[in-house]
Amino acid sequence: MLKNSSPTQTEAWKKLEKHYQEVQPQHLRDLFAQDPQRFQKFTYKLNDTLYDLSKNRITEETLRLLTQLAEQMDVPAAIESMFSGARINATENRAVLHTALRNFSDSDLNVDGENALQEVREVQQQMKEFCNKLHSGAWTGYTGKRIQSVVNIGIGGSDLGPKMVVEALKKYQKPDLEVYFISNVDGTDAAEVLRKLDPETTLFIIASKTFTTKETITNAETARGWFLHKAVDREHIKKHFVALSTNIEAVKKFGIAEENAFRFWDWVGGRFSLWSAIGLSVACALGYDRFEELLKGAESMDKHFRQAPMQENIPVLMALLSIWYTNFFGCQTHAILPYDQYLRLLPEYLQQLLMESNGKSTDRNGHRVNYQTQPVVWGAAGTNSQHSFFQLIHQGTILIPCDFIAPAVSQNQIGDHHALLLSNFFAQTEALMKGKTADEVRQELEQKGMAGDELESLLPHKVFEGNKPTTSIMMQQLTPFELGSLVAMYEHKTFVQGVIWNIYSFDQWGVELGKQLAGTIEGELLQGKTSNHDSSTSGLMVFYRNNK
Ligand code: F6P
Repeated sequence: MLKNSSPTQTEAWKKLEKHYQEVQPQHLRDLFAQDPQRFQKFTYKLNDTLYDLSKNRITEETLRLLTQLAEQMDVPAAIESMFSGARINATENRAVLHTALRNFSDSDLNVDGENALQEVREVQQQMKEFCNKLHSGAWTGYTGKRIQSVVNIGIGGSDLGPKMVVEALKKYQKPDLEVYFISNVDGTDAAEVLRKLDPETTLFIIASKTFTTKETITNAETARGWFLHKAVDREHIKKHFVALSTNIEAVKKFGIAEENAFRFWDWVGGRFSLWSAIGLSVACALGYDRFEELLKGAESMDKHFRQAPMQENIPVLMALLSIWYTNFFGCQTHAILPYDQYLRLLPEYLQQLLMESNGKSTDRNGHRVNYQTQPVVWGAAGTNSQHSFFQLIHQGTILIPCDFIAPAVSQNQIGDHHALLLSNFFAQTEALMKGKTADEVRQELEQKGMAGDELESLLPHKVFEGNKPTTSIMMQQLTPFELGSLVAMYEHKTFVQGVIWNIYSFDQWGVELGKQLAGTIEGELLQGKTSNHDSSTSGLMVFYRNNK
């Protein structure tokens, strides 16, 4: 089970506080100048992906102390507990076994008396057969026409993961099949997708672990109504609706045939469910074999995470870096910057993964933590982000660690686009690290013929402090395998952070509260009542009622 004590009480934490005082004034520019081997020392490789940590504000001593922190918080034992199926999600009394979904070994994994790996394989077989029928045209709609559009209806983990992967691997997409996503309960989301589709050739995937999430059930009912408006006979539903859920009773009650239900289990957390039946839309878009490659990439990261020593363990090091910046430098945000258009949804996906998991302030003893936990995760694709928020990263008053992510080979080789894109990636990380000194600016301005007051007044605005930390993640190519490995890396990073912060990463009570409150107010809005609310909430409800 997980250790239950404050990280601030460890020897390593105390040493890190002292060490921070030594590292904080040092400039990355000098650290690079002092050590020509810095890149080699802080670079890690797994399969075809390179993780370059050298542009972070660390020394060898920093990593030594951070890995001590991981050891002293029993991270190795926590990793083993997770993989072996211990109920480490204690607030929900569940095991955490998304890794079982991509475990291709012959071993058994006993969960509540069942071999979880066997059950996983059965559902994977069902998914494979379904995809084959869909792609071969053997699965037809109620009028005998081939399915041309697949719509995933889900939200949170039942939407963000599959949507991000389908977009990221668009280049591998099967021809003749479009995949859409509806998530928002705002009717506009459904309306904008449905108006492009024909009920005769559309298949809906209702993705909901609980099958009670209001947004998803509302959208599913709208889709069913839209479909029956044309198809009329409810018998036809079975050719056009399938479900992905742990709640088979609710699936049947909705009207979806049991043979069209793809199950998964309580031990798969919503935001870790991409690898389960929740990935069906990915398998539909790419073909089951590609989906399996994604799983295999994740499995390779799992093996690395389980076996590599702390000081070479990529997800552990990524988590430790985040702790270094959050708890010692006081950073409150972290930017994710993919230099690949296909990865543009990665920041959104990682927002849920990291912030829903570690956005907690109660420790495993039930006490309020007295240290910071998850920073805000945000970001967007480069180079667009350079022309919006990079100004603040370069010259603002807050320190923002960034992950830059790019493939060496573009999926769309057009002229010099990719070289230009990557030159931006490299130039930005270099500029953020080095900055530009007053002397350099002066020289530059003088060369342009500027002098005197004009030069002096402009000069401070053109100085860049630099010393802004970045991690560069470069893969050879954005394949299903490398994407799987990357996503699994972030999952494990999330877990390790939670272990060290002594919080429970696998529940989400904060989200549950919102669901309850919205349910109460919805009832009042529909009945035209207003009960005990504060004056602002009541005022807004009245404004809505008077203006709708
Ligand atoms: O956002 C809260 C949450 O419970 C997520 O953890 C989950 O991914 C999402 O809602 C959707 O839940 P479900 O798959 O049960 O519809």
